[in-house]
Amino acid sequence: MTRHFLDLDKVPAKTLRAILEDARAVKDARSGRPKGTPDDDLALAGRMVALVFEKPSTRTRVSFDVGIRQMGGETMMLTGSEMQLGQGETVADTARVLSRYVDAIMIRTFEERTLLELAEHATVPVINGLTNRSHPCQIMADVMTYEEHRGSIAGRKVVWSGDGNNVCASFLHAAGRFGFDLTFTGPETLDPDPKVVDWARGEGARIVIERDALKAAEGADLVVTDTWLSMHDDASARDRRHNQLRPYQVNGALMAKAKPDALFMHCLPAHREEEATSEVMDGPHSVIFDEAENRLHAQKAILRWCLGA
Ligand code: CP
Ligand code: NVA
Repeated sequence: MTRHFLDLDKVPAKTLRAILEDARAVKDARSGRPKGTPDDDLALAGRMVALVFEKPSTRTRVSFDVGIRQMGGETMMLTGSEMQLGQGETVADTARVLSRYVDAIMIRTFEERTLLELAEHATVPVINGLTNRSHPCQIMADVMTYEEHRGSIAGRKVVWSGDGNNVCASFLHAAGRFGFDLTFTGPETLDPDPKVVDWARGEGARIVIERDALKAAEGADLVVTDTWLSMHDDASARDRRHNQLRPYQVNGALMAKAKPDALFMHCLPAHREEEATSEVMDGPHSVIFDEAENRLHAQKAILRWCLGA
């Protein structure tokens, strides 16, 4: 069976744990080596991976490209507007054609159905590099980062402050898979998808919705936020969202409610002084650049699992 990496709720917990262990080994093996040198085992030698972007990206684009090259593979960067996909060719036909040329496909797109249709018709692994609904590679890197700094995330209190968006949905999936508690704090109109909340609860995760941000942050082990307006959101909603979300800004007062050794995460790109202050982003709790780095290592392990390499 083709091993797709579509969402954290679609991959068993044991597999996700094994991928993170491999990511750790992959990272350790490269410690101190120049970034441009290949890995010893060249796990992806002779493999070609298509990287398809229908939205902008810095981290996803660069970390996949560098990681694949370190593993001895080749990459092909494709933007939606350059492909027939955007001109009316069906996703299913695109999937069938790309499968004849490449060994795996990473896609960043808008609608989740595009990702699912691609996976349904591809005969090579498909990896979700973000959709309007989720961002699983990011949260694999985030769990890896938490555990590097503080040990097992199981049983910890994670607080998500802000928009209940795609990144939040993957954190909810991760709560179910890795066994941590998640408190969402944000305005009711921006609550996470109730189906995802129910799924996480069904997996035994304690999910709390708390409108008061300072109360929500009490005793947190990890505080997370993200942009107030995602790439798929209507830009005309900006002012309304800013007014709604201002009470959920992650600032010094909010972090003071968390545990003294709490971590702060943001997947980036950030709008400084909006969803989080620079005081927090550059402060002692912040691990935002470790998260960004770990995208590289986590995704190499995801690719190795997908390709059995
Ligand atoms: N965090 C993240 O996915 O960043 P990019 O949009 O830069 O890829
Ligand atoms: N929620 C953001 C994440 C960017 C990495 C977006 O979808 O734009």
